[in-house]
Amino acid sequence: MLIDLRSDTVTQPTPAMREAMFSAPLGDDVLGDDPTVNASEAKAATMFGMEAALFCASGTMTNQLAIRTHCRPGDDVICDYLSHVYQYEGGGISVNALASVSLPKGERGKLTPELIRENLYSPTDPHKPLSRLVVLENTINKGGGCYYTVPEIAAIRQVCDEYGLILHLDGARLFNALVETGEPTEAYGQLFHSISICLSKGLGCPVGSLLLGETAFIRQARRYRKLMGGGWRQAGFLAAAGIYALDHHVDRLKIDHARARKIGQILEQVPEVESILPIDTNIVIFQLPETIPAADYVSQLETKGIRCVAFGKHQVRFVTHLDLTDEHVDRLAALLLP
Ligand SMILES: Cc1ncc(COP(=O)(O)O)c(C=O)c1O
Repeated sequence: MLIDLRSDTVTQPTPAMREAMFSAPLGDDVLGDDPTVNASEAKAATMFGMEAALFCASGTMTNQLAIRTHCRPGDDVICDYLSHVYQYEGGGISVNALASVSLPKGERGKLTPELIRENLYSPTDPHKPLSRLVVLENTINKGGGCYYTVPEIAAIRQVCDEYGLILHLDGARLFNALVETGEPTEAYGQLFHSISICLSKGLGCPVGSLLLGETAFIRQARRYRKLMGGGWRQAGFLAAAGIYALDHHVDRLKIDHARARKIGQILEQVPEVESILPIDTNIVIFQLPETIPAADYVSQLETKGIRCVAFGKHQVRFVTHLDLTDEHVDRLAALLLP
């Protein structure tokens, strides 16, 4: 039995999701007439109380389209040092938007109003880039799946309003946060100028992310998507998986979180594990001693049938997901515990 904890992106579509995909009505999305793509965009926009949405191939694409659309060359993006848009999107902020970055180091990747104030440039100083955009991530991957609450975000939005900054959310795992807090999606629609949500992570779709925002913003993002070669045709096959997932795979994320906590309890008994970040959602990050390189430990686990990723020199990440069962967790315990 292989235990695949590398990411929540490793899932296979369920039989019911495949059924929804293969029975979806299709059209040509570049021409705007794929009914299933249109339905997925309308569904997501309505869910968050936002005007419009754009179905894209990946979370990198939705984030980068947002940054490209919000920023002009010479603008500055404020995002935490640990954020995905900075760490894992190929330097896209500079490539796609010709923008610079300010990188505060928050607690587990969380920005605060104070950190944003400290990283603002004066708009009247011609030596400096122009602070334009703040990007938050929720949940925070590198922070071990920790999350913001709506009041924390509202305080950040207040600073953005004070200084005329735009607020974008990388919500690749937003639903993991929402099932924990019980907060409504509409609150997010009110606080952010744009939101990216991923369907291919905890929600279990094979492909897909949605960018949400005002109609004019989405129209411009659609232009840039085409320019990047991201216009697609009978994409309703994929959008149908997204609709199915939004209807059926959100509430069950709590199960993934419970399994992550159970894995944390197992890891507490593993001699090589020095410490574990608090487990808030479906991500478990643990620290090894300086004498054990994470890459070596990951290879050692692979020989036992446990797949995971090194997350720094001495850090390892496990992620729970739709295809991970209680049997996998029991087997993990049997393999790891003396
Ligand atoms: C927090 C976060 N944002 C964005 C992305 C990008 O998503 P994609 O892999 O679909 O480009 C990821 C991917 O793991 C992520 O973890």
